[in-house]
Formats: sequence, structure tokens, C-alpha cells
Amino acid sequence: FALIILCSVVGYVYFSVKATDWRTKYVREVNQADSSSSSRAIDSLLNYETVKYFNNEDYEANRYDTDLQKWEAARRKNRLSLFALNGGQASIIAIAMTSMMALAAYHVAKGEMTIGDFVLINAFTMQIFMPLNFLGFVYREIRGSLANIENLFNLLDKQATVPINEGADKLQVSRGKISFTNLEFSYLADRTIIQNISFDIEPGQKVAVVGESGSGKSTLVKLLFRFYDPSRGSISIDGQDISQVNQASLRQAIGIVPQDTVLFNDTILENIRYGRPDASDVEVQQAIDLAHLRNFISSLPDGHSTTVGERGLKLSGGEKQRVAIARTILKRPPILVFDEATSSLDSQSEQAILTALQEISQGHTSLVIAHRLSTIIDADKIVVLGEGKIIEQGCHSELLSIDGAYKKLWLSQQTPVTKQMQEGNIG
Ligand SMILES: Nc1ncnc2c1ncn2[C@@H]1O[C@H](COP(=O)(O)OP(=O)(O)OP(=O)(O)O)[C@@H](O)[C@H]1O
Ligand SMILES: [Mg+2]
Repeated sequence: FALIILCSVVGYVYFSVKATDWRTKYVREVNQADSSSSSRAIDSLLNYETVKYFNNEDYEANRYDTDLQKWEAARRKNRLSLFALNGGQASIIAIAMTSMMALAAYHVAKGEMTIGDFVLINAFTMQIFMPLNFLGFVYREIRGSLANIENLFNLLDKQATVPINEGADKLQVSRGKISFTNLEFSYLADRTIIQNISFDIEPGQKVAVVGESGSGKSTLVKLLFRFYDPSRGSISIDGQDISQVNQASLRQAIGIVPQDTVLFNDTILENIRYGRPDASDVEVQQAIDLAHLRNFISSLPDGHSTTVGERGLKLSGGEKQRVAIARTILKRPPILVFDEATSSLDSQSEQAILTALQEISQGHTSLVIAHRLSTIIDADKIVVLGEGKIIEQGCHSELLSIDGAYKKLWLSQQTPVTKQMQEGNIG
């Protein structure tokens, strides 16, 4: 009797552990298939306009279908492996119980045991196998749940690209001088994006960065916000190295109108208020006026409470950009960054907003990234980037006087009419 019990308990434990390990990969497969099919669905629904532009409804539906088929197959394997595990465990217990009973019956038949002994053995066997079966169930459930929350643990283990230094000193901005010193940076090891960039933005100055697409202008801003740490060199604000200060205080001090404005699926008012959630209503209204959003908002049937759709898709490009400008105006940080802030506006709104921005940036240090050079003529310094390096710097007239990249860019942006106007032939 003892041998049967011993063998079956050892066999049961061995089988449960091995079989549960074996089927964990199917649990993972289901999780993976589940998340990839749902992110596919969300992605294609969010980008429904692109799907329609390219007439790819069937293509998207097929891709989703393929994902769902994978999910179905994974679910099936998961279920079948669970049946195999349950079936195996139940078989081991059934065989053990039957052997115990058969042995007891044999002894009773031979007259070596009484019926009472038979019942006793039955009761003892049950008392062993019931909890054992329960343990098997608990083990299976725990292993399954651990596989389910694996992603969560992986996420918790993830190291931030930039170490978070909450305990560090806060950035103290008094005048807002920004210095980039020998900056070098690459996103991927074998492709340097920024090489040996050094320039200063004096307090209250407006410095423009221009250069061809992909030359690293937006990357420079990301480094200023410390989304990444440079591989060499440093950025300092008022003499404080940004890698040594508290990130929240750094980001608090800089306001940005980014190249691509993404809005939250909320009302226009809430999206503007995002710049400073505790701003008063009067301040929000002021920001709306300065960003020239008043006419647009009053033309909407629901006014401020109009929702903007996912990522702001119910607004035009220029309207989104003005919401982004209003946000930044509301934040009123000492340092301002405009990354192509007016690129989606018509010339008239652009002029009006540029004037408003000029008023706001009075006395503030600002970094302006622009493709349209006419918007940065008044900059105190223009830095021309090419392939991640500074190729020229100086003010507008200085750069025009040297026959370089800036002058070429400038001339290429002049229409025949404006060229003639400059030469004094018209007007
Ligand atoms: N997160 C990223 N990972 C890898 N490479 C990136 C990443 N972001 C940008 N890059 C690459 O870095 C280079 C510089 O990008 P950046 O956005 O700074 O260009 P840019 O000068 O702002 O261009 P544009 O005028 O078109 O906005 C590009 O070639 C881009 O492909
Ligand atoms: Mg850019």
C-alpha cells in the first residue's frame, strides 16, 4: 500500500511540474496573439483615414483575420494542453485509487482484511489524493498567472533610457542662457545623428536652427528636454548641466510647440488647459486670443466643448498647431522652443501668430526651428545644420554676405516676384 502511495505521489508531482512547464509556452502564445490582434485592430481603427485613402479596407481586414486565426490556433493549443494536463493528473489518481482498492479487495477476499479495513483504506486514500489534486490545480493556476503577468514584470524591469533623478537639485532659471557644448549623439550605435555641436543662446535671444530634413534639428530639442542623454558633450541652462538637475524642473522650464501636434480625444478647452492644468479660465481665454483661436472656436456649434477626436483628427492642421501654441502660451515657461510651429498655417495667420509669439517671447530665450526662412529673419543668431554638424552660423545679413548654404537656401525660397522686389524693380 505504501509503495503504491509513494509511487503515485512522486509520479503525480513529477508529471504536474513537467506538464505545466511544457504548456506555459502555449499560455504565452495566447497572450502574444491576443495583444498583437488587439493592437492591430486599434491601429487600423485609429488610422482609418489612411486606410480609406489607400483603399486598404480589405487588406486591413485580412491582416486582422490572420491575427485572429493565430489567436484561435493558440487558444486551441492552450485548451488542448490544459486537457492533457488535467487528463494526466486525473489518470494518475484514478490508477492509484484503483490499485489501492484492488489490493484491499484482494486482501479482503483472502480473508486477511475485514470490510472495515477496506473502507478505512478507501477513506485514507481519498484523504491523500483530494488535497494532492487540489495542490496540482493551485500549481497550475499560479504558473498560468505568472505567465500572464510576465509582461508586467518585464515592464517593471525596464531601465529608463535616461536615469530619473528625482532627488537632484531643481533647475534654477534666472536669465535662461542655454549652452550646447561639443554635443554628440546617436539613436543607434552605428549612425551618428549629431556631431560636435557647440553654440550658445544668450538670455532673451532668439536663435534659429535651420537645415535640411533629417539633419537633427528636432533631435537637438529632444536632447534639450533630456529625452536622451548625449554620448559626448553637455547642455547647460544658466550654467547648470541638465544631466545633473531634476527632470521635472527642467521640463517645467521649457515650453514647446512640437513639429507634430498630437491632441487628446477631449474638448478643445481641456486640450488647451493641458499646458497648465491649474490655469484660471481667464488665462485660458487669453491664450485662446493670443493663438488666434477665438474666431474658430466661436464658429463651432459646441464652442469650447467640441471634442477634437482621436489625436485631434477633427481639426485642421493649422487649428491643431494653434491649439499647441495656446498650450505653450498658457504654460508661460522661461524658455520657448518652436519646432516648425507655424508650418501648417496660411501666410496671413502665420504673420498674425508670429507677431503674437514675438510678444510672448519678449524677454524669453527662444529656440526656433524653421524651414521657411522668412519667419526667422529677425533671429539674433541662425545656426545652419547639415548632416548633424554646424556648417554656418551668424545673423541673417551675415549669412547672406557669405556665399554659403544659407544663401543658397534663401535664394531657393524666393519667388521671382519677391526677388525682383528685393532688387528694387517692383513696388
Ligand atoms: N527615435 C528615433 N530612433 C532612431 N532614429 C531616429 C529617431 N528619431 C529620429 N531619428 C533619425 O534621426 C535623424 C534626425 O531626425 P530629426 O527628427 O532630428 O530631423 P529634423 O532635422 O528635425 O528633420 P525635419 O526637418 O524633417 O523635421 C533622422 O534621420 C531620423 O531618421
Ligand atoms: Mg524635425
